[in-house]
Amino acid sequence: MLEINNLEVGYGSIKALHGVSLKVPEKSIVTLIGANGAGKSTTLRAISGLIKSKGGTVRYDGEDITNMAAHKIVGKGLCHVPEGRMVFANLTVEENLRMGAYLRNDKAGIAEDMEYSFHMFPRLKERIAQAAGTMSGGEQQMLAIARAIMSKPRCLMLDEPSLGIAPMLVRSIFEQIVAINRDRGITVLLVEQNANLALAISQHGYVLETGKVLLEDTSAALRSNPQVRAAYLGG
Ligand SMILES: Nc1ncnc2c1ncn2[C@@H]1O[C@H](COP(=O)(O)OP(=O)(O)OP(=O)(O)O)[C@@H](O)[C@H]1O
Ligand SMILES: [Mg+2]
Repeated sequence: MLEINNLEVGYGSIKALHGVSLKVPEKSIVTLIGANGAGKSTTLRAISGLIKSKGGTVRYDGEDITNMAAHKIVGKGLCHVPEGRMVFANLTVEENLRMGAYLRNDKAGIAEDMEYSFHMFPRLKERIAQAAGTMSGGEQQMLAIARAIMSKPRCLMLDEPSLGIAPMLVRSIFEQIVAINRDRGITVLLVEQNANLALAISQHGYVLETGKVLLEDTSAALRSNPQVRAAYLGG
């Protein structure tokens, strides 16, 4: 569904990605792990058109979308939940969810997905009229994911959904990522520092190091790889 070939991205004269290639098969969950500064977020930004790449190609659903405008890419059902949640702080939970659906006009479908969002995260329903900026970090992460679902994506890219969130909420968020994939057939590209959890729910994984793919394998194989265990899984 997503095929990235030899992607090169720089910020000014500094190169952040040196030819990254990866594949995300339709309806799968693929994990991208790597240390701080490895280029994980940069990879997602380049795929979703938020930054221009200097080389390489991004193919989505058979179409070359390299350097296409970000809003066009969202329109194709490829949705990016960036690092740091980025909900609209002054809007309520409900308003944030409606913003997620702004490119749609299927009223019944929107209502259905709103219900699905509340089914995924009942806490959002309890806080439906609360300003998003006043919610806890974990609640805002739930809202960011639910808002992405409201855009009716076929492929969802999540950048560190567990960052700075209490373990109990992390578990619930990961359970819902699995459910989104299983029940709705949404393809997921997951960037995570929590390599243990991410590799546990994905089928395939990539390890990024200083802008290059260092390792690629099934998630099960990566979990038992001594190099990965030492660097990312705490030994
Ligand atoms: N806006 C920017 N301007 C200049 N350099 C940047 C910018 N954003 C990222 N970089 C650099 O690009 C490299 C890759 O950064 P990126 O944010 O993709 O890493 P990451 O793997 O997501 O790290 P983290 O785990 O800390 O989120 C880093 O060296 C970073 O300093
Ligand atoms: Mg990052």
